[in-house]
Amino acid sequence: MQQPTHGFSVPFKFPVHFTQDVWDRANTVFFDVIRQEEADRRHRVLVVIDGQVASAHPSLPQDIRGYFSAFPDALELVASPLIVPGGEAVKNDFAHPLSILKHINEVGLDRQSFVAVIGGGAVLDMVSFAAAIAHRGVRVIRFPTTVLSQADSGFAVKNGINLFGKKNFVGTFVPPFAVINDSRFLESLSRRDRIAGVSEAIKVALLRDPGFFRYLETNVENIASGDMTVLTSLIRRSAELHLAHICGNGDPFEMGSARPLDFGHWAAHKLESMTHHRLQHGEAVAIGLALDVTYSVKKGYLAPIVAARILRLLEGVGFRLWDSAMTDRAPGGSPAIIHGLREFREHLGGELHITLLRGIGHGFEVTEMDEAIVASAIDELEARDAGPAEQIEPPVASTAVFGRR
Ligand SMILES: NC(=O)c1ccc[n+]([C@@H]2O[C@H](COP(=O)([O-])OP(=O)(O)OC[C@H]3O[C@@H](n4cnc5c(N)ncnc54)[C@H](O)[C@@H]3O)[C@@H](O)[C@H]2O)c1
Ligand SMILES: [Zn+2]
Repeated sequence: MQQPTHGFSVPFKFPVHFTQDVWDRANTVFFDVIRQEEADRRHRVLVVIDGQVASAHPSLPQDIRGYFSAFPDALELVASPLIVPGGEAVKNDFAHPLSILKHINEVGLDRQSFVAVIGGGAVLDMVSFAAAIAHRGVRVIRFPTTVLSQADSGFAVKNGINLFGKKNFVGTFVPPFAVINDSRFLESLSRRDRIAGVSEAIKVALLRDPGFFRYLETNVENIASGDMTVLTSLIRRSAELHLAHICGNGDPFEMGSARPLDFGHWAAHKLESMTHHRLQHGEAVAIGLALDVTYSVKKGYLAPIVAARILRLLEGVGFRLWDSAMTDRAPGGSPAIIHGLREFREHLGGELHITLLRGIGHGFEVTEMDEAIVASAIDELEARDAGPAEQIEPPVASTAVFGRR
Protein backbone atom coordinates (compact mmCIF):
# COMPACT_ATOMS: atom_id res chain seq x y z
CA MET A 1 0.00 0.00 0.00
CA GLN A 2 1.30 3.43 -0.85
CA GLN A 3 2.22 5.45 2.22
CA PRO A 4 0.85 9.00 2.46
CA THR A 5 3.48 11.74 2.15
CA HIS A 6 3.53 14.92 4.16
CA GLY A 7 4.95 18.32 3.47
CA PHE A 8 4.69 22.04 3.80
CA SER A 9 6.02 25.15 2.18
CA VAL A 10 7.22 28.27 3.94
CA PRO A 11 7.14 31.62 2.19
CA PHE A 12 10.17 33.88 2.70
CA LYS A 13 10.41 37.57 2.06
CA PHE A 14 13.12 40.05 2.86
CA PRO A 15 13.58 43.70 1.88
CA VAL A 16 16.72 44.90 0.12
CA HIS A 17 17.26 48.64 0.65
CA PHE A 18 19.64 51.04 -1.04
CA THR A 19 20.50 54.07 1.03
CA GLN A 20 23.24 56.44 2.20
CA ASP A 21 24.42 57.24 5.72
CA VAL A 22 22.33 54.54 7.31
CA TRP A 23 23.50 55.41 10.86
CA ASP A 24 22.51 59.06 10.55
CA ARG A 25 19.62 59.51 13.00
CA ALA A 26 17.59 61.20 10.27
CA ASN A 27 17.73 57.99 8.23
CA THR A 28 14.95 55.67 9.39
CA VAL A 29 15.67 52.73 7.05
CA PHE A 30 17.09 50.53 9.81
CA PHE A 31 14.47 51.60 12.34
CA ASP A 32 11.67 50.81 9.85
CA VAL A 33 13.22 47.53 8.77
CA ILE A 34 13.61 46.16 12.26
CA ARG A 35 10.05 47.09 13.17
CA GLN A 36 8.52 45.50 10.08
CA GLU A 37 7.45 42.69 12.40
CA GLU A 38 6.41 43.19 16.02
CA ALA A 39 6.42 46.98 15.75
CA ASP A 40 5.56 47.44 19.43
CA ARG A 41 8.52 45.55 20.85
CA ARG A 42 11.93 46.77 21.88
CA HIS A 43 14.33 44.93 19.57
CA ARG A 44 17.60 43.53 20.89
CA VAL A 45 20.53 43.78 18.49
CA LEU A 46 24.13 42.57 18.52
CA VAL A 47 26.19 44.52 15.97
CA VAL A 48 29.25 42.90 14.37
CA ILE A 49 31.64 44.95 12.20
CA ASP A 50 34.33 43.93 9.68
CA GLY A 51 37.67 45.11 11.13
CA GLN A 52 38.74 46.93 7.99
CA VAL A 53 35.41 48.72 7.74
CA ALA A 54 35.80 49.77 11.37
CA SER A 55 39.32 51.08 10.66
CA ALA A 56 38.20 52.98 7.58
CA HIS A 57 35.17 54.43 9.41
CA PRO A 58 36.46 55.11 12.93
CA SER A 59 33.30 56.91 14.03
CA LEU A 60 31.10 53.93 13.12
CA PRO A 61 30.72 52.36 16.59
CA GLN A 62 29.92 55.78 18.04
CA ASP A 63 27.45 56.54 15.21
CA ILE A 64 25.71 53.22 15.89
CA ARG A 65 25.50 53.91 19.61
CA GLY A 66 24.06 57.35 18.83
CA TYR A 67 21.49 55.84 16.47
CA PHE A 68 20.29 53.33 19.04
CA SER A 69 20.07 55.97 21.73
CA ALA A 70 17.85 58.04 19.44
CA PHE A 71 15.23 55.28 19.45
CA PRO A 72 15.35 53.93 23.03
CA ASP A 73 11.80 52.54 22.98
CA ALA A 74 12.38 50.49 19.85
CA LEU A 75 16.08 49.55 19.83
CA GLU A 76 18.45 48.02 22.34
CA LEU A 77 22.14 47.66 21.56
CA VAL A 78 22.96 44.60 23.68
CA ALA A 79 26.73 45.16 23.70
CA SER A 80 29.37 47.41 22.20
CA PRO A 81 29.75 46.65 18.50
CA LEU A 82 31.95 43.62 18.05
CA ILE A 83 34.88 43.92 15.64
CA VAL A 84 35.99 40.81 13.71
CA PRO A 85 38.88 40.45 11.22
CA GLY A 86 37.91 41.30 7.63
CA GLY A 87 38.59 39.19 4.56
CA GLU A 88 38.62 35.50 3.72
CA ALA A 89 40.75 34.56 6.75
CA VAL A 90 37.63 34.96 8.88
CA LYS A 91 36.04 32.06 6.96
CA ASN A 92 39.07 29.81 7.37
CA ASP A 93 38.96 29.19 11.10
CA PHE A 94 36.06 27.78 13.10
CA ALA A 95 37.24 29.91 16.04
CA HIS A 96 35.53 32.92 14.42
CA PRO A 97 31.95 31.59 14.24
CA LEU A 98 32.52 30.05 17.65
CA SER A 99 33.41 33.45 19.05
CA ILE A 100 30.19 34.91 17.57
CA LEU A 101 28.20 32.06 19.14
CA LYS A 102 29.87 32.79 22.47
CA HIS A 103 28.79 36.43 22.29
CA ILE A 104 25.26 35.52 21.23
CA ASN A 105 25.11 33.28 24.30
CA GLU A 106 26.64 35.81 26.67
CA VAL A 107 24.28 38.62 25.70
CA GLY A 108 21.32 36.23 25.71
CA LEU A 109 20.00 36.77 22.18
CA ASP A 110 16.87 34.76 21.40
CA ARG A 111 15.33 33.79 18.08
CA GLN A 112 13.44 37.09 17.84
CA SER A 113 16.60 39.11 18.45
CA PHE A 114 18.92 40.36 15.73
CA VAL A 115 22.51 40.17 14.64
CA ALA A 116 23.32 43.18 12.46
CA VAL A 117 26.46 42.45 10.47
CA ILE A 118 28.40 45.14 8.61
CA GLY A 119 31.16 44.03 6.27
CA GLY A 120 32.44 42.36 3.15
CA GLY A 121 31.10 39.08 1.82
CA ALA A 122 33.45 37.00 3.96
CA VAL A 123 32.35 38.56 7.25
CA LEU A 124 28.69 38.42 6.17
CA ASP A 125 29.03 34.70 5.33
CA MET A 126 30.76 33.82 8.61
CA VAL A 127 28.54 35.84 10.94
CA SER A 128 25.33 34.78 9.15
CA PHE A 129 26.44 31.17 9.56
CA ALA A 130 27.01 31.57 13.30
CA ALA A 131 23.65 33.31 13.70
CA ALA A 132 21.92 30.60 11.67
CA ILE A 133 23.07 27.83 13.98
CA ALA A 134 22.53 29.73 17.27
CA HIS A 135 19.19 28.57 18.66
CA ARG A 136 18.66 27.14 15.14
CA GLY A 137 18.39 30.65 13.76
CA VAL A 138 18.75 34.18 15.10
CA ARG A 139 17.58 36.87 12.68
CA VAL A 140 20.27 38.59 10.61
CA ILE A 141 20.26 42.04 9.03
CA ARG A 142 23.14 42.41 6.59
CA PHE A 143 24.94 45.64 5.70
CA PRO A 144 27.22 44.68 2.78
CA THR A 145 30.18 47.02 2.40
CA THR A 146 31.95 45.83 -0.77
CA VAL A 147 30.94 45.99 -4.42
CA LEU A 148 30.72 42.19 -4.52
CA SER A 149 28.56 41.88 -1.44
CA GLN A 150 26.24 44.74 -2.42
CA ALA A 151 25.90 43.37 -5.96
CA ASP A 152 25.63 39.68 -5.13
CA SER A 153 26.46 37.90 -1.89
CA GLY A 154 24.80 40.25 0.61
CA PHE A 155 21.30 39.11 -0.26
CA ALA A 156 22.22 35.52 -1.04
CA VAL A 157 20.17 33.01 0.92
CA LYS A 158 23.20 31.00 1.96
CA ASN A 159 26.12 31.45 4.28
CA GLY A 160 29.09 29.43 5.42
CA ILE A 161 32.76 29.04 6.11
CA ASN A 162 35.59 27.06 4.54
CA LEU A 163 36.77 23.78 6.03
CA PHE A 164 39.20 21.01 5.04
CA GLY A 165 40.61 23.39 2.41
CA LYS A 166 37.23 23.43 0.65
CA LYS A 167 35.26 26.59 -0.04
CA ASN A 168 31.99 26.91 1.85
CA PHE A 169 32.18 23.33 3.11
CA VAL A 170 30.00 24.16 6.13
CA GLY A 171 27.01 26.42 5.93
CA THR A 172 23.26 26.74 5.80
CA PHE A 173 20.56 28.10 3.54
CA VAL A 174 18.82 30.90 5.44
CA PRO A 175 17.48 34.10 3.89
CA PRO A 176 18.44 37.29 5.75
CA PHE A 177 15.77 39.22 7.64
CA ALA A 178 16.76 42.27 5.59
CA VAL A 179 19.64 43.73 3.59
CA ILE A 180 20.67 47.38 3.71
CA ASN A 181 23.15 48.59 1.09
CA ASP A 182 24.74 51.87 2.14
CA SER A 183 26.77 53.25 -0.76
CA ARG A 184 28.89 55.41 1.61
CA PHE A 185 30.79 52.32 2.69
CA LEU A 186 32.09 51.81 -0.84
CA GLU A 187 34.02 55.07 -0.71
CA SER A 188 36.68 53.57 1.57
CA LEU A 189 37.35 50.50 -0.60
CA SER A 190 40.79 50.11 -2.12
CA ARG A 191 40.91 50.14 -5.91
CA ARG A 192 41.46 46.38 -5.84
CA ASP A 193 38.30 45.82 -3.79
CA ARG A 194 36.23 48.22 -5.91
CA ILE A 195 37.11 46.22 -9.00
CA ALA A 196 36.99 42.68 -7.58
CA GLY A 197 33.21 42.51 -7.24
CA VAL A 198 32.57 43.70 -10.79
CA SER A 199 33.19 40.17 -12.09
CA GLU A 200 29.92 39.02 -10.50
CA ALA A 201 28.07 41.81 -12.32
CA ILE A 202 29.71 40.80 -15.61
CA LYS A 203 28.77 37.17 -14.88
CA VAL A 204 25.09 37.94 -14.35
CA ALA A 205 25.03 40.24 -17.39
CA LEU A 206 26.46 37.40 -19.50
CA LEU A 207 23.79 35.03 -18.26
CA ARG A 208 20.76 37.27 -18.19
CA ASP A 209 21.03 40.69 -19.78
CA PRO A 210 22.82 41.67 -23.02
CA GLY A 211 21.75 45.30 -22.50
CA PHE A 212 23.52 45.36 -19.14
CA PHE A 213 26.59 43.82 -20.76
CA ARG A 214 26.64 46.65 -23.32
CA TYR A 215 26.28 49.17 -20.47
CA LEU A 216 29.33 47.65 -18.80
CA GLU A 217 31.27 47.76 -22.08
CA THR A 218 30.36 51.40 -22.65
CA ASN A 219 31.41 52.36 -19.14
CA VAL A 220 34.49 50.20 -18.86
CA GLU A 221 36.85 53.09 -18.24
CA ASN A 222 34.70 54.58 -15.50
CA ILE A 223 34.43 51.17 -13.86
CA ALA A 224 38.17 50.70 -14.03
CA SER A 225 38.74 54.07 -12.40
CA GLY A 226 36.27 53.21 -9.62
CA ASP A 227 33.71 55.89 -10.56
CA MET A 228 31.06 55.74 -7.82
CA THR A 229 28.10 56.71 -9.99
CA VAL A 230 28.74 53.89 -12.42
CA LEU A 231 29.56 51.44 -9.63
CA THR A 232 26.34 52.13 -7.75
CA SER A 233 24.20 51.71 -10.86
CA LEU A 234 26.10 48.54 -11.76
CA ILE A 235 25.43 47.24 -8.24
CA ARG A 236 21.70 47.95 -8.53
CA ARG A 237 21.29 46.14 -11.84
CA SER A 238 23.38 43.20 -10.69
CA ALA A 239 21.32 43.00 -7.49
CA GLU A 240 18.05 43.06 -9.46
CA LEU A 241 19.23 40.26 -11.73
CA HIS A 242 20.57 38.09 -8.91
CA LEU A 243 17.42 38.63 -6.85
CA ALA A 244 15.17 37.84 -9.80
CA HIS A 245 17.00 34.56 -10.15
CA ILE A 246 16.96 33.61 -6.45
CA CYS A 247 13.29 34.53 -6.03
CA GLY A 248 12.05 33.35 -9.41
CA ASN A 249 13.89 30.22 -10.45
CA GLY A 250 11.96 27.83 -8.22
CA ASP A 251 15.05 26.45 -6.47
CA PRO A 252 16.29 29.06 -3.98
CA PHE A 253 17.84 26.47 -1.69
CA GLU A 254 19.61 24.73 -4.57
CA MET A 255 18.04 21.30 -4.08
CA GLY A 256 18.77 20.40 -7.71
CA SER A 257 22.26 20.21 -9.16
CA ALA A 258 21.83 23.07 -11.63
CA ARG A 259 23.42 26.29 -10.42
CA PRO A 260 23.41 28.81 -13.27
CA LEU A 261 24.63 31.72 -11.16
CA ASP A 262 27.76 29.74 -10.42
CA PHE A 263 28.99 30.35 -13.96
CA GLY A 264 32.80 30.48 -13.81
CA HIS A 265 32.79 29.32 -10.20
CA TRP A 266 34.06 25.74 -10.43
CA ALA A 267 37.52 27.04 -11.36
CA ALA A 268 37.19 30.14 -9.18
CA HIS A 269 36.57 28.20 -5.97
CA LYS A 270 39.48 25.89 -6.71
CA LEU A 271 41.79 28.79 -7.54
CA GLU A 272 40.90 30.53 -4.30
CA SER A 273 41.95 27.44 -2.31
CA MET A 274 45.00 26.75 -4.49
CA THR A 275 46.28 30.29 -4.00
CA HIS A 276 45.43 30.20 -0.27
CA HIS A 277 43.10 33.12 -0.99
CA ARG A 278 45.85 35.32 -2.42
CA LEU A 279 43.28 35.72 -5.18
CA GLN A 280 40.06 37.26 -3.93
CA HIS A 281 36.76 35.63 -4.80
CA GLY A 282 35.89 38.24 -7.44
CA GLU A 283 39.35 38.04 -9.02
CA ALA A 284 39.14 34.26 -9.17
CA VAL A 285 35.66 34.52 -10.69
CA ALA A 286 37.05 36.73 -13.48
CA ILE A 287 39.58 34.01 -14.35
CA GLY A 288 36.90 31.30 -14.03
CA LEU A 289 34.67 33.23 -16.45
CA ALA A 290 37.54 33.67 -18.92
CA LEU A 291 38.28 29.96 -18.73
CA ASP A 292 34.69 28.84 -19.32
CA VAL A 293 34.24 31.41 -22.09
CA THR A 294 37.41 30.14 -23.80
CA TYR A 295 36.24 26.56 -23.29
CA SER A 296 32.84 27.47 -24.81
CA VAL A 297 34.63 28.68 -27.96
CA LYS A 298 36.80 25.58 -28.17
CA LYS A 299 33.73 23.37 -27.95
CA GLY A 300 32.11 25.31 -30.76
CA TYR A 301 29.33 26.77 -28.62
CA LEU A 302 30.40 30.41 -28.70
CA ALA A 303 31.66 32.62 -31.52
CA PRO A 304 35.31 33.72 -31.03
CA ILE A 305 34.36 37.33 -31.72
CA VAL A 306 31.89 37.31 -28.81
CA ALA A 307 34.43 35.69 -26.51
CA ALA A 308 36.95 38.38 -27.48
CA ARG A 309 34.48 41.06 -26.38
CA ILE A 310 33.98 39.35 -23.02
CA LEU A 311 37.70 38.93 -22.33
CA ARG A 312 38.31 42.52 -23.40
CA LEU A 313 35.70 43.76 -20.92
CA LEU A 314 37.18 41.70 -18.07
CA GLU A 315 40.69 42.98 -18.84
CA GLY A 316 39.45 46.51 -19.42
CA VAL A 317 37.95 46.57 -15.93
CA GLY A 318 41.36 45.59 -14.58
CA PHE A 319 41.27 41.84 -14.12
CA ARG A 320 44.23 39.64 -14.90
CA LEU A 321 42.87 36.51 -16.61
CA TRP A 322 45.72 34.30 -15.58
CA ASP A 323 47.36 33.15 -12.39
CA SER A 324 50.51 31.09 -11.95
CA ALA A 325 48.52 28.54 -9.90
CA MET A 326 46.86 27.50 -13.15
CA THR A 327 49.99 25.62 -14.15
CA ASP A 328 50.10 23.60 -10.90
CA ARG A 329 49.97 19.90 -11.73
CA ALA A 330 48.14 17.10 -9.92
CA PRO A 331 50.11 13.86 -9.26
CA GLY A 332 48.95 12.32 -12.58
CA GLY A 333 50.23 15.35 -14.52
CA SER A 334 46.85 16.94 -15.30
CA PRO A 335 46.28 20.58 -14.31
CA ALA A 336 45.47 20.62 -10.58
CA ILE A 337 42.67 23.10 -11.20
CA ILE A 338 40.67 20.37 -12.94
CA HIS A 339 40.13 18.81 -9.52
CA GLY A 340 37.85 21.77 -9.00
CA LEU A 341 35.33 19.98 -11.22
CA ARG A 342 35.25 17.02 -8.84
CA GLU A 343 34.88 19.23 -5.80
CA PHE A 344 32.21 21.27 -7.53
CA ARG A 345 30.18 18.15 -8.30
CA GLU A 346 30.56 17.01 -4.70
CA HIS A 347 29.39 20.44 -3.52
CA LEU A 348 26.38 20.44 -5.87
CA GLY A 349 25.49 16.83 -5.19
CA GLY A 350 24.50 14.45 -7.96
CA GLU A 351 25.51 15.19 -11.51
CA LEU A 352 28.08 17.74 -12.59
CA HIS A 353 26.35 20.86 -13.91
CA ILE A 354 28.50 23.54 -15.49
CA THR A 355 27.11 26.67 -17.11
CA LEU A 356 28.62 27.63 -20.46
CA LEU A 357 27.72 30.29 -23.01
CA ARG A 358 26.19 30.25 -26.47
CA GLY A 359 26.05 34.02 -26.64
CA ILE A 360 25.71 37.04 -24.39
CA GLY A 361 22.54 36.41 -22.40
CA HIS A 362 22.48 32.73 -23.42
CA GLY A 363 23.87 30.48 -20.71
CA PHE A 364 23.21 26.77 -20.85
CA GLU A 365 24.20 23.74 -18.82
CA VAL A 366 26.48 20.84 -19.62
CA THR A 367 26.97 17.75 -17.47
CA GLU A 368 30.48 16.87 -18.55
CA MET A 369 33.68 18.75 -19.27
CA ASP A 370 36.40 17.63 -21.64
CA GLU A 371 39.60 17.71 -19.58
CA ALA A 372 41.96 18.08 -22.55
CA ILE A 373 39.97 21.04 -23.81
CA VAL A 374 39.99 22.61 -20.35
CA ALA A 375 43.79 22.17 -20.37
CA SER A 376 43.99 23.76 -23.80
CA ALA A 377 41.83 26.69 -22.65
CA ILE A 378 44.21 27.16 -19.72
CA ASP A 379 47.18 27.20 -22.13
CA GLU A 380 45.43 29.77 -24.24
CA LEU A 381 44.83 32.09 -21.29
CA GLU A 382 48.50 31.74 -20.37
CA ALA A 383 49.57 32.66 -23.92
CA ARG A 384 47.20 35.62 -23.91
CA ASP A 385 48.65 36.80 -20.62
CA ALA A 386 52.19 36.52 -21.94
CA GLY A 387 51.71 38.42 -25.15
CA PRO A 388 49.42 40.64 -27.16
CA ALA A 389 45.75 39.61 -27.17
CA GLU A 390 45.32 36.63 -29.43
CA GLN A 391 42.43 35.22 -31.32
CA ILE A 392 40.85 32.31 -29.49
CA GLU A 393 41.46 29.18 -31.47
CA PRO A 394 38.49 27.55 -33.17
CA PRO A 395 36.77 24.40 -31.90
CA VAL A 396 38.78 21.22 -31.37
CA ALA A 397 37.66 17.60 -31.34
CA SER A 398 36.53 16.07 -28.02
CA THR A 399 38.75 13.79 -25.96
CA ALA A 400 38.48 12.49 -22.38
CA VAL A 401 35.56 13.94 -20.48
CA PHE A 402 35.03 14.62 -16.83
CA GLY A 403 31.54 14.27 -15.46
CA ARG A 404 30.41 10.88 -16.68
CA ARG A 405 29.67 8.69 -13.70
N1 LIG B 1 26.77 33.69 0.31
C1 LIG B 1 26.91 33.72 -0.99
O1 LIG B 1 26.04 33.28 -1.74
C2 LIG B 1 28.14 34.31 -1.62
C3 LIG B 1 28.12 34.72 -2.98
C4 LIG B 1 29.28 35.29 -3.53
C5 LIG B 1 30.42 35.42 -2.74
N2 LIG B 1 30.39 35.00 -1.44
C6 LIG B 1 31.59 35.10 -0.60
O2 LIG B 1 31.92 36.46 -0.38
C7 LIG B 1 33.31 36.52 -0.06
C8 LIG B 1 33.97 37.63 -0.83
O3 LIG B 1 33.40 38.84 -0.44
P1 LIG B 1 34.05 40.25 -0.82
O4 LIG B 1 34.41 40.28 -2.23
O5 LIG B 1 33.12 41.27 -0.27
O6 LIG B 1 35.46 40.23 -0.06
P2 LIG B 1 35.87 40.34 1.45
O7 LIG B 1 34.76 40.17 2.40
O8 LIG B 1 37.03 39.43 1.59
O9 LIG B 1 36.36 41.86 1.54
C9 LIG B 1 37.52 42.28 0.85
C10 LIG B 1 38.37 43.17 1.77
O10 LIG B 1 37.78 44.45 1.89
C11 LIG B 1 37.64 44.80 3.26
N3 LIG B 1 36.48 45.69 3.31
C12 LIG B 1 35.17 45.35 3.28
N4 LIG B 1 34.41 46.44 3.19
C13 LIG B 1 35.25 47.51 3.18
C14 LIG B 1 35.06 48.92 3.10
N5 LIG B 1 33.84 49.43 2.94
N6 LIG B 1 36.14 49.71 3.13
C15 LIG B 1 37.40 49.19 3.24
N7 LIG B 1 37.65 47.87 3.29
C16 LIG B 1 36.58 47.04 3.26
C17 LIG B 1 37.51 43.50 3.97
O11 LIG B 1 37.88 43.60 5.34
C18 LIG B 1 38.48 42.63 3.18
O12 LIG B 1 39.77 42.80 3.63
C19 LIG B 1 33.90 35.15 -0.41
O13 LIG B 1 34.12 34.42 0.77
C20 LIG B 1 32.81 34.51 -1.23
O14 LIG B 1 32.82 33.11 -1.15
C21 LIG B 1 29.28 34.46 -0.87
ZN1 LIG C 1 30.64 34.32 -6.56
